[in-house]
Amino acid sequence: MADGTAKLALGDKSTDYPIMSGTVGPQVIDIRKLYGDTDMFTYDPGFTSTASCESGLTYIDGDAGILLHRGYPIDQLAEQSSFMEVAYLLLNGELPSKSEFETFNTHITRHTMVHEQLSTFFRGFRRDAHPMAIMCGVVGALSSFYHDSTDINDPKQREIASHRLIAKMPTIAAMAYKYSVGQPFVYPKNSLSYTENFLNMTYSVPAEEYEIDPIIASAMDKIFILHADHEQNASTSTVRLAGSSGANPFACIAAGIACLWGPAHGGANEAALNMLREIGTPDRIPEFIARAKNKDDPFRLMGFGHRVYKNFDPRAKVLSKAATEVLDKLGINDPVLDTARELEQLALKDQYFIDKKLYPNVDFYSGVILSAIGFPTTMFTVLFALARTVGWVAQWNEMITDPAQKIGRPRQLYTGPTQRDYVPLGER
Ligand code: CMC
Repeated sequence: MADGTAKLALGDKSTDYPIMSGTVGPQVIDIRKLYGDTDMFTYDPGFTSTASCESGLTYIDGDAGILLHRGYPIDQLAEQSSFMEVAYLLLNGELPSKSEFETFNTHITRHTMVHEQLSTFFRGFRRDAHPMAIMCGVVGALSSFYHDSTDINDPKQREIASHRLIAKMPTIAAMAYKYSVGQPFVYPKNSLSYTENFLNMTYSVPAEEYEIDPIIASAMDKIFILHADHEQNASTSTVRLAGSSGANPFACIAAGIACLWGPAHGGANEAALNMLREIGTPDRIPEFIARAKNKDDPFRLMGFGHRVYKNFDPRAKVLSKAATEVLDKLGINDPVLDTARELEQLALKDQYFIDKKLYPNVDFYSGVILSAIGFPTTMFTVLFALARTVGWVAQWNEMITDPAQKIGRPRQLYTGPTQRDYVPLGER
């Protein structure tokens, strides 16, 4: 909706651009006609000031530390809701009624199995492959198995593909884990909840009964909720960009997984725990803080800082509390938690971190919990991908149905050589 205009003056010529308002958050200047009105592009590496789309899913106020899904605060969802309910909310815009929720659960549950032939894919990977490498490959390969849900212009096929992706991610993630430890794959058990089923496929073995610990299941579900969606972050933007060309949903989500893997994004949870383990004991923290502040050292405190949150990350608050609860309840005394707490305290008092508004992010405490549950660090980002699939799929659907959507095609500021003539090899 246009809400006033912004004037751009270039020399003696000025042009008006519409200002658009959302329901909350900064207004945007609609510059779609800039190139045409002028012969200029805008320059915004990393899209720090650019809204790439209109979205009604997730709202973040980074200064106030607010994260809302369809209007609901993340802490309320984490404390009171379930991951499946949040998935429904993100996909459909409203919390489900009891019967809507049951129907949704049935749909997701029906799709938990993967094509039997898909398991042969795993055997092609080296046993020590990083599970994120396996995820990129196997999720991309889904498009070769489910041809009946790749027509992005058919709403029913989009819905089936969305349900398939959400339902099959835990199965594929658990298979990636089983493959890495050399244990047989475990089939989904549809009598279990989404999260319990994932834990069962991950930790049960045919030789003995596996009892799902409700503390672990509840912590895991909370972690999934906290990672479900996060506005136009790098991997979500990747999914949207891939989808803008009309690529099928399985390929788009595989692209999102690839982007998430990076240590500045989803890979930070693995990097954060590795860092805490490397620090080892609280007395070594000042050495690492000094390194993080040293401009000549590329080292950064992993799990600290965020492009959008400049006050605190509300997800980190929930996880900080959950980390203590889970370790207490499981009776685990992990020195890594002490190191994390001490590092947080020291960094928050340090002028460098205060000036740059660097606070613990979601990845700082999630690793402590996941490690207590028994996951190897290499699985951390896989779990992030599993949960974020809900957000990716919801954002992808929103994009496909947005009439303003075009293929994503940024421009550039070219600084290479101007036109020159080719010189044959013998003359160079
Ligand atoms: N440790 C030390 N210094 C830092 C850190 C850190 N973790 N993060 C940012 N800085 C400094 C950075 O050196 C820069 O200093 P200067 O202005 O002097 O050059 C300044 O703070 C701003 O950093 P930036 O890289 O320009 O900020 P950004 O918004 O582009 O990056 C970030 C955000 C999350 C990539 C970055 O804070 C970072 O690399 N953090 C560590 C990795 C991490 O924890 N990532 C998880 C993000 S939350 C989960 C997710 O969304 O995936």
